[in-house]
Amino acid sequence: MYLDNDDERVLAGEFGETRQKMMEILVALGGVYDAERLVPIASAQVSGASYKTIGRWGLAWLQSLNARVAVPTVLNPIGMPQEEWREFGIHEEFAHHQTEVVEAYRRLGIRLECTCTPYYLRITEYGEHLAWSESSAVAYANSVLGARTNREGGPSALAAAIVGKTPYYGLHIVANRRPQVVVEVESGTGPRSDHWGAIGHIAGKKVGNRIPIFSGIRPGRDHLKALGAAMAATGAVALFHVDKITPEARVFEFDTGGLDRVTVTQDEVEALFAETEVEAVAVGCPHCSADELRELADLLKGKTTTKPFYIFAARGVARSNPDLVGAIEHSGARVIPDTCMVVSPRMDEFKSIMVDSGKALAYVPGMCGALARIGTRKECVEIATS
Ligand code: F3S
Repeated sequence: MYLDNDDERVLAGEFGETRQKMMEILVALGGVYDAERLVPIASAQVSGASYKTIGRWGLAWLQSLNARVAVPTVLNPIGMPQEEWREFGIHEEFAHHQTEVVEAYRRLGIRLECTCTPYYLRITEYGEHLAWSESSAVAYANSVLGARTNREGGPSALAAAIVGKTPYYGLHIVANRRPQVVVEVESGTGPRSDHWGAIGHIAGKKVGNRIPIFSGIRPGRDHLKALGAAMAATGAVALFHVDKITPEARVFEFDTGGLDRVTVTQDEVEALFAETEVEAVAVGCPHCSADELRELADLLKGKTTTKPFYIFAARGVARSNPDLVGAIEHSGARVIPDTCMVVSPRMDEFKSIMVDSGKALAYVPGMCGALARIGTRKECVEIATS
């Protein structure tokens, strides 16, 4: 991989050992994927932020680093809300270690906005190169914003953040962003027929790691978020297109004539909605937008929760919408920032959890050891208040 003079000096250790190590990670990655050079990035998003997932060895590695990030960088959700962890039921020992993780990232200059929806907080432009690592954020950045990022691991995103560059391969190259499979969604009329998380959950299994293009659907931005998150979880989708909707499908004329075709049927969608008893309800995977908070506030109006109901959102989004948060919490539901139903140990204490997300449906059983049930947002509110 070609390195310019500055890159070579970083690799030689002229700017410190941490930068040198980070450059070594990027050079190794570039070698594996045959990248021709590095490309400057506009921002980074780093996963591996919950002590639940990285443990003491991950923490020790972070504490050994000594540098500052070179580009605006945010963290993925951590294992607890930074301020309200006691009320959320987090144990003291976990909170102590999680705080150490946060402190290690703070020393690196990372903004402690712990969210998988950084695009609600900072404008990301079409065509910008990024190094983001949370899979749903990657799918959104590539597909809905038309930015360019590979699906980074936590360490490679952090290396890119500190160096300010990432290897130029994969989805950074326009020619690699063409659709590889056409997805058709059978139309239906019921309230679950356009549940984008459920559709994505099924579509992801069918397309695997190929780049899909959907035809004949008209989802909004939050729907695209749910669709991409689920496909990234059950498949390995980092980029998808929707004919006439997503930016690259509008800019480029994709010839889909010779591509494989798969269909998501209404029977498959309906079959995901098993009706089992649950102990808790959790929505906001990926983190809720302001519009989604508004929808939940409307649905909860005049109701009182009868079981724990957690709604996850970026702290910045919750802070900018105090009226919506107040209306939601008046019902007994809680808007929880910085963390989520998958990476927080709090959720491990429930045996069964209802979610509205195709991604959470895939991850909750393995990550929380709980049975997961999916519902529409309205069904989640009904179960949480019945
Ligand atoms: Fe975000 Fe956690 Fe879901 S990181 S996409 S809310 S699993």
